[in-house]
Amino acid sequence: MKFTIFYFSGTGNTWWVCREFAKIVNKSEHDAEFISIEQDDIQSMGYLQKKLQFTDALGIAYPIYGSTAPQIVWNFMESLEEASQKISIDFKENKKKRFGFILTTMALFSGDGALVLNDEMKKIAFPLLGAINIKMSSNISIPGFHYDPVEKEKLEKRKQKAQKKLKNFFKKLRNDKKKLEGRWNLLGKLGGWIQRKFMDWALNRTIDWNANMERCTKCMLCVKECPTDNITFENEAIRFLDKCTYCMRCYNFCPTHAISPREEIADPKKYKRHRGCTENFKLSILHD
Ligand SMILES: Cc1cc2nc3c(=O)[nH]c(=O)nc-3n(C[C@H](O)[C@H](O)[C@H](O)COP(=O)(O)O)c2cc1C
Ligand code: SF4
Ligand code: SF4
Repeated sequence: MKFTIFYFSGTGNTWWVCREFAKIVNKSEHDAEFISIEQDDIQSMGYLQKKLQFTDALGIAYPIYGSTAPQIVWNFMESLEEASQKISIDFKENKKKRFGFILTTMALFSGDGALVLNDEMKKIAFPLLGAINIKMSSNISIPGFHYDPVEKEKLEKRKQKAQKKLKNFFKKLRNDKKKLEGRWNLLGKLGGWIQRKFMDWALNRTIDWNANMERCTKCMLCVKECPTDNITFENEAIRFLDKCTYCMRCYNFCPTHAISPREEIADPKKYKRHRGCTENFKLSILHD
């Protein structure tokens, strides 16, 4: 079986989970690749169609934002749908079994956030067989959402747990067994619904990005690495447009902590930054 995982990762957790899952699959008789939705190739319909045609198990991986997927992932699902519509009818009528699966990462609670793309996966003819949430570290520690990343030791324990969970998940998928986390958890569903209702409102209210030019060294890392090209440098100042997907990349990785969600500076001693979950993590890995 060919496993293809399209992923988005703001600050590295989801990338790590995809890498571990692909390692597990590739140790078996099956084959896996994981592809960032920030890659240039993703813009090409032909590329997406080829990937869909030659995939048996299609994974989508994303960080949970208020029990749902980031906007950039929803946009990507529209492109996938467009690509799937242009593939010959044979693809959908083909008797060969194809299925979809979801990997999410989160800090604490995801409700039924791993199931929100259920309809989208059906539309592209990869109905969901599995969906799981992997607990990693928080990347959102800002005034208004003060949830610090976990300490290194705790993160290592979570990573070990994650590896076990991913192994079991792969076993289920290869044996054609359903595993849909959050499906029967009514409280989780209710919590997820409430979070989805209020998250956009809360984020819009809390986050109005600002770069303090006294601290900024004009390194341009934020301009280069923003996944939605939401950051520009004009008239000697860093400016933010209105295409933010709230990935927290600029905030966490600005080397001088110049970027803040409000006028006030979020002191890095008080609001801890999350810079990936591996030693010497490099942002370029998230789009190369
Ligand atoms: C805007 C935003 C909303 C978030 N909402 C949740 C949430 O509802 N539940 C949760 O457990 N973690 C939440 N998180 C934490 C992330 O899901 C978590 O840190 C994730 O592993 C980050 O993955 P990444 O490093 O691949 O971007 C949120 C993070 C952001 C930036
Ligand atoms: S990453 Fe920080 S220091 Fe670098 S240009 Fe952006 S705001 Fe300035
Ligand atoms: S502005 Fe910052 S938080 Fe928003 S999408 Fe760009 S990097 Fe992510």
